[in-house]
Amino acid sequence: MTLPENVERAALSPPAAISRWRSEPFRLFFPLGVLFAWIGVGHWLLYTTGATATYSCRFHGLVQMQAFMMAFAVGFLLTALPRRTQSPPVGRMEMAALAAALVVTTGAAIIESWVLAEIAYATLFVLLIQFALRRFLASTAGRRPPAAFVLLPIAAAQGLAGAALIAAADANAVLPSSGHLGALLVEQGVFLCLAVGIGSLVLPLIGGAPPPPDLGSAPREAWKALAYAAAGVAIFASLLLEQLGFERSGPLFRAMVVAIGLGFGGGALRLPGKPGAHRKLVWLAVWLMPVGLIASAIWPDYRVPALHILYIGGFSMMAFGVGSHVAMSHLNMEQLALGRPPAVIILGAAFVIALCARLAADASDTYFIHVGWAAAVWILGSAVWLAFFGPKLLRS
Ligand code: HEM
Repeated sequence: MTLPENVERAALSPPAAISRWRSEPFRLFFPLGVLFAWIGVGHWLLYTTGATATYSCRFHGLVQMQAFMMAFAVGFLLTALPRRTQSPPVGRMEMAALAAALVVTTGAAIIESWVLAEIAYATLFVLLIQFALRRFLASTAGRRPPAAFVLLPIAAAQGLAGAALIAAADANAVLPSSGHLGALLVEQGVFLCLAVGIGSLVLPLIGGAPPPPDLGSAPREAWKALAYAAAGVAIFASLLLEQLGFERSGPLFRAMVVAIGLGFGGGALRLPGKPGAHRKLVWLAVWLMPVGLIASAIWPDYRVPALHILYIGGFSMMAFGVGSHVAMSHLNMEQLALGRPPAVIILGAAFVIALCARLAADASDTYFIHVGWAAAVWILGSAVWLAFFGPKLLRS
């Protein structure tokens, strides 16, 4: 083990006399995220089986990105930021408010109250911003974040702008096209920035490489922060391009920025240096992100299914892959993390099968049967994961 990795691990060990929930908030937010995902993906299963008579693409897309994916991001950030900056863990009320914001976002989407859903989603970002700022700016903080974390405020800004546009379009205060831009920001802008920003820290840790240095530790780190900020602005600009009708060049430009950010910044050009099934899943997820964007640019008529390479293969596989790593490294399962836990293998296989069924749906004569099967298999894979990790996560 290298010295920097040792130092990182010491910084990541939980402070004594603080409840497990506060020092390891992922224990609550990862299982919560799986439940939100089942609500979002289960929507297609309910419609295909005839349990519901109507469906809403908007409901599915927003619950997936605003509740499921955000719950995993919140669980990760609440755990990692205090440890990386050697600052106090999240407060009880703060944690309850974040969980409540996620529940309200999902509940409001279920009753199709989109303005309320967007207010709750925006509140989530406001809570996260103050949580992060208090740690990044505190003079008492022992360490500073890495350069790539400059992408976190850019993700939050896109989330807030996206929420405002979606809500305003729903209230007929702006043109529907503004609502479309809002959806682009929420469904892609936020998580592409989070993936590159968080990926710069988590990919080296997962792959067995030294973690990135602190911002301010060398002049080079300031230049790196500038480069990451430029990547965030480029992702935003590519979404504006797409909105303006550049339906091929917008996603292609975005794919290039994401591939450079994760390949060079996160070190994903190399295969993980350590064995372990979840490491391979995370590596695959990294590369399926630009692949999905490129596919959507090449076949604009097939845009939404092609984007599921990004959503299912990229975002959701990344969430569960990183979730597996965080869980195994915090729950004394390091040995298992070097092998092939059946729950991780089944999850990976299920997500790949679900992705294939989702892609095939639009090319078939039985669209909803394919979509229903894709949803069922995805839920099954995540259920096996939760059955294995859930009891360990929730154990006090
Ligand atoms: C395997 C399970 C899944 C199935 C069967 C599925 C199915 C669908 C369907 C049928 C649509 C609507 C297509 C249309 O507008 O005509 C859709 C849209 C969407 N899905 Fe999924 N999906 C799945 C998983 C996911 C996951 C895991 C995510 C995110 C992590 C996701 C994110 C989205 C988003 C953001 C949209 C809106 C896309 C847009 O309009 O630009 N989906 N999905």
